Amino acid sequence: MTLIDGKALSQKIRLNVKKEIDVLDSIGITPGLAVILVGDDPASKTYVSMKEKACEEAGIYSIVHKMPSSISQDKILEILDMMNHNDYIDGILVQLPLPKNINTTKIIEAINHEKDVDGFHPFNVGRLVSGLDSFVPCTPLGVIKMLEEYKIDPKGLDICIVGASDIVGKPLLNLLLNAGATVDICHIHTKDLKAHTQKADVVIVGVGKVNLITKEMVKDGAIVIDIGINRLKNGKLVGDVDFENVAPKCSHITPVPGGVGPMTIAMLLENTLQAAKNRKKKKEDN
Ligand code: GUN
Repeated sequence: MTLIDGKALSQKIRLNVKKEIDVLDSIGITPGLAVILVGDDPASKTYVSMKEKACEEAGIYSIVHKMPSSISQDKILEILDMMNHNDYIDGILVQLPLPKNINTTKIIEAINHEKDVDGFHPFNVGRLVSGLDSFVPCTPLGVIKMLEEYKIDPKGLDICIVGASDIVGKPLLNLLLNAGATVDICHIHTKDLKAHTQKADVVIVGVGKVNLITKEMVKDGAIVIDIGINRLKNGKLVGDVDFENVAPKCSHITPVPGGVGPMTIAMLLENTLQAAKNRKKKKEDN
């Protein structure tokens, strides 16, 4: 059984990103990321401060706009418009979820798609579906990079994704389909989850349910990617897979923590670097 080490891979990627940013910086292009955080959801606050710290380490200029949950949608749209027109901001990220009174689609659609480093704008979603160049959401992109690093080619594999969110499941479905996999996607209404996971060469799960994937649900030699993050009552962080019992059956498996989690941030840095490179190219072409 091989443990897929997302921590080590993310560190390697972050180092490479930093090297590239140092070069850009020396010619006067400092990548910039603007983050909007609305309300005081503890998990969102933690994620945003991790993103801020990672940007600082990589040499990305970052600004975080913290707003109370009482803020109006129009005010957020106004701030986004300013960010869209600020040449020093290459990437814009609105941390989700947003408070219920805010229309998330409207907010996402207001981000200039060229600055959409989260890859959530319908322009980028559409291009991803069609297999065209686009910004790709960070967690799915992180999973693809992990498979690449461990020489796992999706072409021809039966892959079962558990969780059909816009942020993770659906982009992964398209990335893997475009890479030649046969993809099965399961969700809350799936009648018999085990029937789907059991026949898969690769099981990818991210729904936030402790021990959802048990050893009876995966075949011998399967590859298991765990995107779930759950905090147990005793403070321990676990994924959605019963790791202890599933791992011995696997050819490869990701741990939690130290698996997909660190890759998400590394991909955000890569996407922001890409946005800055696009700015440089645009400047040169003009
Ligand atoms: N909330 C949970 N995951 C994400 C993410 O990748 N990006 C943003 N913006 N919000 C999230």
